[in-house]
Amino acid sequence: MRRAKISIVGAGNVGATCAHWAAAKELGDIVLLDIPNRDKPEQHMPKGKALDLACCAPIERFDSKILGTFDYKDIADSDVVVITAGLPRKPGMSRDDLLAVNVPIVKSVSEKVREFAPNSIVIVVANPLDAMVYTAWKTTGFPTNRIMGQAGALDVARFREFIAMELGVSVEDISALLLGGHGDDMVPLPRLTSVSGIPLSDLMPADKINACVDRAKVGGGEIVKLMGTSAYYAPASGTIQMVEAIIKDKKRIIPSAAYCEDEFGVATGKKGKGCFVGVPAILGTGGVERIVTFKLTPDEQKLMDESVSHVKDLVAAVVKLFPELA
Ligand code: LAC
Repeated sequence: MRRAKISIVGAGNVGATCAHWAAAKELGDIVLLDIPNRDKPEQHMPKGKALDLACCAPIERFDSKILGTFDYKDIADSDVVVITAGLPRKPGMSRDDLLAVNVPIVKSVSEKVREFAPNSIVIVVANPLDAMVYTAWKTTGFPTNRIMGQAGALDVARFREFIAMELGVSVEDISALLLGGHGDDMVPLPRLTSVSGIPLSDLMPADKINACVDRAKVGGGEIVKLMGTSAYYAPASGTIQMVEAIIKDKKRIIPSAAYCEDEFGVATGKKGKGCFVGVPAILGTGGVERIVTFKLTPDEQKLMDESVSHVKDLVAAVVKLFPELA
């Protein structure tokens, strides 16, 4: 049986941690790709990280092969390509502040993905996330089911973790959903959050629920302040949750930045002029196989509209930089 092939572009903190989780879960063979460091031509960082990780195999008991490379030819025939390339945040920066520097990076990586892995499913992880997914979509020209972004998997994990911490119960029993862009205006949905089936509002007062919602919204920033750079364990874990759903055709419903034209009020008016934003997506071997829609309350819809409008502003900023991406 052919093993699945997962290529990860960008072997920094997020990329290397994605490789780590994917190997630990033995999801397939892994390619870890980065560019050479011009100041240190004697070094080969992706090869070094791949070798280090490969040496965990006897202890952790995985047979995944891990290749570190500078050469895009090695991503050929990938089932999934994860794009983590791009700069992370520094303290005081918003995700949006990364747009001008990360659009050209994601664009050039996407050109290579189009050339060397034209049949792959692409998961974008660079920030500002929703605009980077759009950039990858326009650049690759891939059908919308094969392009998506990782954000909701992380954001909802943070929301669940903060609720579990507050209630002192297992995080496994917290079921939650979240919509919107990957910004501080993301939309956690306490109405649809339950603890072993019990509505959250029966177990937690409104002020505590709001505190968990607010902490989830700025959870990324909280970590940037503590570490001086962006989070990577949970972003990578969320990414590999999506990879696993795709490789194993699990049909899991995972909040993902997926292409919308009229779902959840993302009215763009024109076919082919939609935008990528966080929505519950069924992930399987077809990539985003379906978006699961349901009715929002007027308050939830208002928050979603604000978040979508922010994503559209970011996309407009991408198009201003590169008019060919319109
Ligand atoms: C975060 C960054 C990676 O939310 O977007 O931690």
